[in-house]
Amino acid sequence: MQQLQGKVAVITGGGSGLGRELALCCAARGMKLVLGDVDEKGMQETLRLVEAQTPGTESATMRLDVSKLEQLQALAELCTSRFGAAHVLFNNAGVSVGGAAWENTVDDWEWVMGVNLYGVVWGVKTFTPMMIAQGEGHIVNTASAAGWVNGPNMSVYNVTKHSVVALSETLALDLRDAGANVGVTCLCPAFFPTGIHESARNRPADKGDTVELSETALKRAELTKAAIQKGKIQASDIAEMTVKAVEEDQFYVFPHRKIKQLIGLRAQAAADEKTVFDSMNP
Ligand SMILES: NC(=O)c1ccc[n+]([C@@H]2O[C@H](COP(=O)([O-])OP(=O)(O)OC[C@H]3O[C@@H](n4cnc5c(N)ncnc54)[C@H](O)[C@@H]3O)[C@@H](O)[C@H]2O)c1
Repeated sequence: MQQLQGKVAVITGGGSGLGRELALCCAARGMKLVLGDVDEKGMQETLRLVEAQTPGTESATMRLDVSKLEQLQALAELCTSRFGAAHVLFNNAGVSVGGAAWENTVDDWEWVMGVNLYGVVWGVKTFTPMMIAQGEGHIVNTASAAGWVNGPNMSVYNVTKHSVVALSETLALDLRDAGANVGVTCLCPAFFPTGIHESARNRPADKGDTVELSETALKRAELTKAAIQKGKIQASDIAEMTVKAVEEDQFYVFPHRKIKQLIGLRAQAAADEKTVFDSMNP
């Protein structure tokens, strides 16, 4: 979608981190914003920053949980009633939990699968028909390097992000088959500084039973936190690359070049029927 000026951007997880930076980037291109997040305060802070950077940006927010289909449907209705359309959907809200697959609780699985996978599925299910009907649109799914390369202590997260990659590729193929003028972008960043390592701040009480991390898992979690905080590429850079990918109808975005090498190593090792883990997971 070459021309974004005046179009409507819908951003889940718009109250923090990458979602906030996507909002700033979209506003800078003259887009109208519809933000959805469980964190109302975070969204208001995003809008404050947007107003300071691009005064007069038209916007709306909705407090919602992306794991619930009916709440995504309400977000779509807000887009229609307020702006008459939704042109670019960023399925971006995401959370993380550590632990080994057999130790993670049912709540761990349901919470993270609900936000990271079903949040994207419901976004696609709700907004794609609108975009097909209006004759144009673009869907951006925030996956992760974890959608390609499996690090330890991140079972649930890795599963969701691989699924988002699979969903994005299949969605693009099916849209092509349907002759729809709707683009797809799959964003796969490695670690960068945001609030993701503090995901539990937005964990619902009814999904509160979590894994007790082993000593090894706690060390792994500390390493992950440090990697996130020390990430050299900033959320603002990644947002800019992503919005550019929408403008250029680019499918994959790998902001961290090293990930492309690791994907190549993983693919080659699999093709050779060899283990990939020792070389890839320090
Ligand atoms: N930061 C990283 O290192 C990294 C790396 C790869 C991919 N990602 C992905 O980037 C995306 C954005 O995360 P971030 O890093 O900006 O983290 P973040 O914690 O700063 O932002 C995530 C946002 O999602 C919102 N959210 C959480 N649960 C929600 C729910 N049920 N419904 C609606 N909103 C909800 C949070 O309130 C928050 O505003 C996620 O999909 C994440 O998996 C992050």
